[in-house]
Amino acid sequence: MPLLTRRNLLKASAVAGAYGVGIGIAGKFGLAEAAPEPQVLKALKTQATLTDAGVTKNIMTWGNVGGAVGMPPVLRMTKGKPYAARLTNTLDEPTTIHWHGLRIPNKMDGVPFMTQPYVYTGDSFDYAFTPPDAGTFWYHPHCNTLAQMGQGMTGVIVVEDAADPTFDSEVVLNLRDWRLGGDGQFIAAFRPRDAAKAGTYGTVRTANWHQEPQYDAPAGGLVRLRIAVTDVTRIFSMKMEGAEATVIAIDGNPVPKRFPLDLLQIGPGQRLDLAVRMPDSEGAIATIEDIRGTTPKTIARLRSVGASLKRNIGDLAAMAENPVAKPDVSSAQKISVVLSATAESAPVDSICGTLGYSFWAINKVPWPGDTSDPTAPLSELKLGKSYILQLENVTPHTHPIHLHGMSFTVLSSSTREVMPLVTDTYLVQPDEKVQLAFVADNLGDWLLHCHIIEHQKTGMTSYVRVV
Ligand code: C2O
Ligand code: CU
Repeated sequence: MPLLTRRNLLKASAVAGAYGVGIGIAGKFGLAEAAPEPQVLKALKTQATLTDAGVTKNIMTWGNVGGAVGMPPVLRMTKGKPYAARLTNTLDEPTTIHWHGLRIPNKMDGVPFMTQPYVYTGDSFDYAFTPPDAGTFWYHPHCNTLAQMGQGMTGVIVVEDAADPTFDSEVVLNLRDWRLGGDGQFIAAFRPRDAAKAGTYGTVRTANWHQEPQYDAPAGGLVRLRIAVTDVTRIFSMKMEGAEATVIAIDGNPVPKRFPLDLLQIGPGQRLDLAVRMPDSEGAIATIEDIRGTTPKTIARLRSVGASLKRNIGDLAAMAENPVAKPDVSSAQKISVVLSATAESAPVDSICGTLGYSFWAINKVPWPGDTSDPTAPLSELKLGKSYILQLENVTPHTHPIHLHGMSFTVLSSSTREVMPLVTDTYLVQPDEKVQLAFVADNLGDWLLHCHIIEHQKTGMTSYVRVV
């Protein structure tokens, strides 16, 4: 890809129109407090040891200045407290940061052409916002995403709340694969025939950039296991062996009613918070597994250490609900969203990367997003009004559909019983119809797309406009 200049951007942004439609919301989310010193996130290339084959080159990550360069740092924020980050780009291509699941002002959302200019090589961009919700979230670029995310740029965000229940320990797991050859180097990011199906899987699975890592936790203690699926393709079927695990939050939001983890599908973009009651005996192992496919795969292990704390899962206090507005279902306007395959011609080239194919569509429009080639919004929404997305999946594949900027409540599904989860990503099964309700309470243009990145970048992307 040629190095891009600011001059080109200016030309391109004239097409996209003015940025920062969402400025008016800043006051609402409390930018009034003095902004803290920004956390410097330097986008850079590095190398890391992911396999026995030795060092993998051309990894992309963010370096936390002063810290060692490796996996993107787990960013710690506090609910209701201002946070600031300065992205500095030392990659040889443009990038941005999107804060997945955080309901923040539109101009901070990190979507090139739609909410901000690209951040060019050598340039910086200051993000500043106040996370309104506590929970487990994550961050990633929204430019040339199959390459940038595929090569490492996916990090976890923990938003703490002083009122969170107390655990004996916390383990954060960033789950992702890598497409590496036998020599440990990157191979082609995707195969078109797979992009037209479930997506192209990685060849090496990792948790926190390690294969099957093991963490120590107090015997008989309660561990908060925060899991983020940041992979570009893989859907997990989570199961816990050797310990009792209770689902306490999904996609950052406390579940309406806690339940034991039996088997739960978690797709790209989604998060799962578990309360794990460690075994009593020193040295005992609890294993989190993915049992999608034939043989169970170990994701990570927790090992009991010390004398048992003899804690009880029932001791755990409830978590406060996040302040997500409750939609008024009776007055809500319905928006039909049909997820389908398409055979349109290839999309035009874009500086944030095109895969050169068009396989998918939303309401028959295939659009890759992150491009100067605009499309009309799926729908124009009135600030403060309630809406129901009526999602219909007419494909034989599962799609994790993600809405930026606002969280929705799952109302009903045509194929299964659903909990009224509050979330930003819903895993739509083949032939499923689902109703997702939300209040359009955040101004601006907000993407709605599949989080299997090959699907997103080959057409399964759209957006809503809140005015
Ligand atoms: Cu994780 Cu467009 O988002
Ligand atoms: Cu998809």
